[in-house]
Amino acid sequence: MSERTLVLVKPDGVRRGVIGEVISRIERKGLKIVALDLRTLPRETAEAHYEEHAEKPFFGELVEFITGGPLVAMVVEGPRAVEAFRALAGATDPVSATPGTIRGDFALEIGENIVHGSDSTYSAEREIKLFFPDLG
Ligand code: CMP
Repeated sequence: MSERTLVLVKPDGVRRGVIGEVISRIERKGLKIVALDLRTLPRETAEAHYEEHAEKPFFGELVEFITGGPLVAMVVEGPRAVEAFRALAGATDPVSATPGTIRGDFALEIGENIVHGSDSTYSAEREIKLFFPDLG
């Protein structure tokens, strides 16, 4: 059964010029991109997206970072898409992420880890509604 996940190439990924690399890995895996947009996030959207981290000490930094430049938002579809993309992304901490994964290959800092992928089908549904409210 097919499912959807929200993928972001975060502002550090856009600055580093790895949009194409991320898209290419998604496509090579066999996942399908069903929506894609380059945009700078308004603060309200960033705060809503990261609401589960609102009490964390790094919340302010996280919102500043994610709103600090354009990002690429995508809806990615396929069998077990949430888990499939998280496997492509690698561990949240890029130093522990296995080489061969996106974070393992392109990042060093936990706050600047190139991509975001929804962590569950429940989060995916919420995040897709937030980023692409018109998507059926
Ligand atoms: P993401 O998957 O987008 O979801 C939450 C983000 O919080 C995570 O990626 C990290 O980039 C970020 N994050 C987690 N821990 C820290 C931390 N200790 N300092 C800064 N950012 C963090």
